[in-house]
Amino acid sequence: MIRPFLAALAFVGATMLCAPVSAQHADAGPYVPTPQSIVDAMLLMGKVGPKDFVIDLGSGDGRIVRTAAARLGASGVGVDINEKLVKLANDEAAKEGVAQRARFVNQDLWTFDTSKATVVTVYLLPSIMPRLKQKLLAELKPGTRIVVHDYPLPDWKHEDYMALHEPLKRQAHGLDTAYLYLYVVPPR
Ligand SMILES: C[S@@+](CC[C@H](N)C(=O)[O-])C[C@H]1O[C@@H](n2cnc3c(N)ncnc32)[C@H](O)[C@@H]1O
Repeated sequence: MIRPFLAALAFVGATMLCAPVSAQHADAGPYVPTPQSIVDAMLLMGKVGPKDFVIDLGSGDGRIVRTAAARLGASGVGVDINEKLVKLANDEAAKEGVAQRARFVNQDLWTFDTSKATVVTVYLLPSIMPRLKQKLLAELKPGTRIVVHDYPLPDWKHEDYMALHEPLKRQAHGLDTAYLYLYVVPPR
């Protein structure tokens, strides 16, 4: 149990040092991009395909939704509280020719309606996971997949789990490993 705790401290500490000032006020976590190899693994774990609508909560530079659109033919939306990151994500989506299917909005994720998702992706602070779990269970349709990077949703049995070696994780996490968890929203 000590290892996830130390990793969470490393996540907060490292990101407070390198995050832009505006991101430090973001309650769900500062900006730390998911390495591309881990983005690919998250989308594979979520079995994302052309029929899916992917919502990334706290979307950063939009890499998860942009990758889902460009490589897997999915549609989706990312929501982020940081206006500059939202502009960057939309600019990158336009450059990649996927702006019709991958768009990004500047909004607080706690007020964002997630009910349209077939897949939700999450890379946010461990401290917000209990509140996030309640929001997702209240809004998402049964069968919706949720792929979580590093910090699991509490008291919810995951359907799949992976620990992946990725040296780019060391700066944010203190370890060369990413942990992925898959949850499926149960019937009501
Ligand atoms: C760890 S980064 C993850 C970025 C991206 N999802 C990825 O995996 O590459 C967390 C992001 O959440 C955003 N964020 C934090 N609190 C938020 C909130 N209340 N509403 C929307 N976005 C938020 C931050 O601005 C940051 O871009």
